[in-house]
Amino acid sequence: MQGDKQRVLERDRIYHADAFEMLPRVKDGSIDLVVCDGPYGITTNKWDRLGNIQEFNLRLISIFAAKLKDGGALYLFGKPDCIDFIDYRPFLNLRSKIVWYQPSRLAQGRINYTNNYDIICYFIKGERPKTYDLNAVRVAQLVELQHRLRCERVPSVTNGKFGRTKFNGDGKNPGDVWGDIKQLTYKSKELVSRDALNTIQKPEQLMERVLKASSAEGDLVLDPFAGVGTCPVVCKRLGRHFIGIEKDIQFVEAANKRLQEVARDSAGRLF
Ligand SMILES: C[S@@+](CC[C@H](N)C(=O)[O-])C[C@H]1O[C@@H](n2cnc3c(N)ncnc32)[C@H](O)[C@@H]1O
Repeated sequence: MQGDKQRVLERDRIYHADAFEMLPRVKDGSIDLVVCDGPYGITTNKWDRLGNIQEFNLRLISIFAAKLKDGGALYLFGKPDCIDFIDYRPFLNLRSKIVWYQPSRLAQGRINYTNNYDIICYFIKGERPKTYDLNAVRVAQLVELQHRLRCERVPSVTNGKFGRTKFNGDGKNPGDVWGDIKQLTYKSKELVSRDALNTIQKPEQLMERVLKASSAEGDLVLDPFAGVGTCPVVCKRLGRHFIGIEKDIQFVEAANKRLQEVARDSAGRLF
């Protein structure tokens, strides 16, 4: 029993446990990518009631820094203030604060502007990412291709010089405001249950972008707050290994069911 408690976690499993108890069993320097969609500190869920979300996130960042390989990435999900006034710099290098914009969120504010975005903090261990596969995550150019081809001479935004516009016909970098991926609704086919809406389940498309950009086939992804298993499910489809941890048994069961469905779907789904 004691031996099992000490054993290094196996890949391609979701552990029913508390993340802080299990993380010491993840081998240092073994993880290519951490996807951390944990507590936001704003809902009435018991697991979301934390004293100070920033201190909580700093603790996690320090743990993940040890688990990541050099050049590995961490995507930390939260609200706009989720890393305010903490010094994460001794641990990881913040490359982007991605805004996940959800314009359809109800504008209920009466004395303030309604918050209609989440933050996804993108960190790297060290100076250079070991994987950043831009070609895997390009998005359509907003301006029609034919129009861009006609705009032969436009001034550069950096030095004002006129020159030919450079653009890639396969699409552009998705940038750091992601408004093209919608939060799930009651009607979404992939929604596991109504209980999982809003505070739990993320869209597969969101996890897909993160996984495709910052991991390669065969890489090991750590998801310490796995919920109903969106990240592990997409890992499985994309040929990434994962270690998932989740403390709600019903969510673990829902996640395992989804994983079995991926295994059954022999043709796989095209992303
Ligand atoms: C935002 S949800 C994750 C949703 C997930 N990305 C998905 O798409 O299903 C956060 C999850 O963290 C779990 N959780 C919170 N504190 C935890 C802890 N200390 N250890 C393990 N799981 C925890 C909650 O039960 C919840 O399912």
